[in-house]
Amino acid sequence: MDKLKADLLAQVQAADSLQALDEVRVAALGKKGAITAQMKNLGGLEPEQRKAAGQALNAIKDDVAAAIEAKKTAMADAELNAKLLAEKIDVTLPTRPEREGFIHPISQTIEEVVAILGEMGFEVAEGPEIEDDWYNFTALNIPEDHPARQEHDTFYLPGVGEKGRKVLRTHTSPVQIRTMMHSKPPLRIIAPGRTYRCDYDATHSPMFHQIEGLVVDETTHMGHLKGCLIDFCRAFFGVDELPVRFRPSYFPFTEPSAEVDIGCSRKGGEFKIGHGEDWLEILGCGMVNGKVLENCGIDSTKYQGFAFGIGIERLAMLKYGIPDLRTFYESDLRWLRHYGFQALDVPSMVGGLNQ
Ligand code: PHE
Repeated sequence: MDKLKADLLAQVQAADSLQALDEVRVAALGKKGAITAQMKNLGGLEPEQRKAAGQALNAIKDDVAAAIEAKKTAMADAELNAKLLAEKIDVTLPTRPEREGFIHPISQTIEEVVAILGEMGFEVAEGPEIEDDWYNFTALNIPEDHPARQEHDTFYLPGVGEKGRKVLRTHTSPVQIRTMMHSKPPLRIIAPGRTYRCDYDATHSPMFHQIEGLVVDETTHMGHLKGCLIDFCRAFFGVDELPVRFRPSYFPFTEPSAEVDIGCSRKGGEFKIGHGEDWLEILGCGMVNGKVLENCGIDSTKYQGFAFGIGIERLAMLKYGIPDLRTFYESDLRWLRHYGFQALDVPSMVGGLNQ
């Protein structure tokens, strides 16, 4: 018995792989194994001897099984240690370059404009891009036969809505109407969004973006309009003393109306915003026409307001030196990598951009 035990334990120790260890297990404890064979011999012994020999064999069986388990664990540990050593990670290696996405200059510009006007107390409002004729034109004091309709190069759609023919909105001004019809003054909203006109060249695209502004209150006057827009232009372009000029103009929905120009110079083919001998138009504005207030159910003897409409592409082209408007929509990744913005370049309130 002692010899059997010593032999089997020696075999366990000698096994140098999990497979060899398993072979030892089968040879010792399996159905045809050495211990099993001894067990079978017990039948020929006297009862007293049989009991003692049986106990001894069982003890050997347990010892061998325990030795096999211990050896298995030790082997697994050794294997893991070897693996850990071999697969060590070098955390000092440089990372693999990752392609980052970019914010489109249109999105960036909208964010900047909203940040500046938001700081002044404007709230963002929205309206549908597919509008009814009445909201896009009639309520804005542009009746059916008005020449301004031709200027808008409207895309008409087949359907007819509750308030007239369906059109792709030609400006964001219908959001003024929706706001005045659905909420009571005082009002102070901005409405950024897509607008559509049938027009296409280096400075026009059939789809473009505007941001509308509307303020209506009992004491709102032209001084508020001027102050608000002068502050806006200076903050957006980041030029404190930027010259801003209000030039008389005409829009059916504002009276009086003006176009706003900013000072610039074009000396030697180089364009610069700020001081200079030239002017560049950037937005349209005016005091809300009393007829428009009345069309929306607002008492024009009690309330007055101002409105403005800014072309986003125009602002983006000027601020970021983008020469051709059509490139905004070509989805050229090289262009976006050049003119785009990092996702974390959150617009700041001062100057409109923290670069
Ligand atoms: N809706 C006008 C346009 O698209 C701009 C504008 C808005 C003018 C508000 C005055 C007031 O040209």
